[in-house]
Amino acid sequence: MSLGNLIDGRAIAKEVHAETNSRVVALKAGGVVPSLIFIRVGEDPASRVYVGMKERSAMKLGIRSETVVLPNETAEAELLDLVKQFNDDDSVHGILVQAPLPSHIDETKVFSMVSPAKDIDGFHPVNAGKLMLGEKGGFVPCTPGGVHELLIRSSVSVEGSEVVILGRGNIVGKPMAAILCQKKVHSNATVTICHSRTRNIARYCRSADIIIAAIGVPEFVKADMVRPGATIIDVGVNRVEDPSHEKGYRLLGDVDFKGVQPVAGKITPNPGGVGPMTIAMLMRNTVLAAEQQAVNFKK
Ligand code: GUN
Repeated sequence: MSLGNLIDGRAIAKEVHAETNSRVVALKAGGVVPSLIFIRVGEDPASRVYVGMKERSAMKLGIRSETVVLPNETAEAELLDLVKQFNDDDSVHGILVQAPLPSHIDETKVFSMVSPAKDIDGFHPVNAGKLMLGEKGGFVPCTPGGVHELLIRSSVSVEGSEVVILGRGNIVGKPMAAILCQKKVHSNATVTICHSRTRNIARYCRSADIIIAAIGVPEFVKADMVRPGATIIDVGVNRVEDPSHEKGYRLLGDVDFKGVQPVAGKITPNPGGVGPMTIAMLMRNTVLAAEQQAVNFKK
């Protein structure tokens, strides 16, 4: 079946999972079971779904995972203590604290408490700094890492291209820019970050070879903002109330897919584009963490 101009995130994620699986098998043959802890605070419905998907993915790959669910009222100090316990536990290779956290907890503090060696999210300042400096050996955040892998594996030429990133968040926009402007193969792009205070975003979008939308506004990117032939990556997951829908809401991306697909050269579907890649990169980072810790243990 021809997918036309669609970038098939599910198929590409499967490729990455197959590679990760071989590494899991090798680790296990050496007596190491890669192991991952999820910490979820409160009952944010989207976080429950995301953590559930990550758990299932880990299980399929033979990665041991455990989820700790804490009540919404959990004190920041208690959460920091728990993270520290897992930092000190040699049988745990990766720690993920699902965002968003309740407003009384300082997310930055929590992400900074995770040992950089176990920070498979790539949110610790040490890993963020390594990415910024182009240093090897750190962890790259999963969503922008997944978008980069999607571009590479669907033969989108990144080098020398003009990339517009919509959104300047720490989880997607900023690390995405850092990845794409590295002086490296598959990077070397000219990157512009647009955000809520950017004047005339459409003007930047129209000159872009690649648009990466992570702005959190449903169907923000319209056909008239897209240069014909451009590559469009939709990172957005927006819950929009819809009483006619069984669940009472619908999930919409940041791209008006129906309008944009005919104009785009290549485009990610949503769902089925970036989402599966985020999980694939998380599993890959977990295995990388286990490999690095196993080597350090032997030293
Ligand atoms: N919330 C939304 N995306 C992410 C992510 O990549 N990692 C964590 N920990 N929380 C998230």
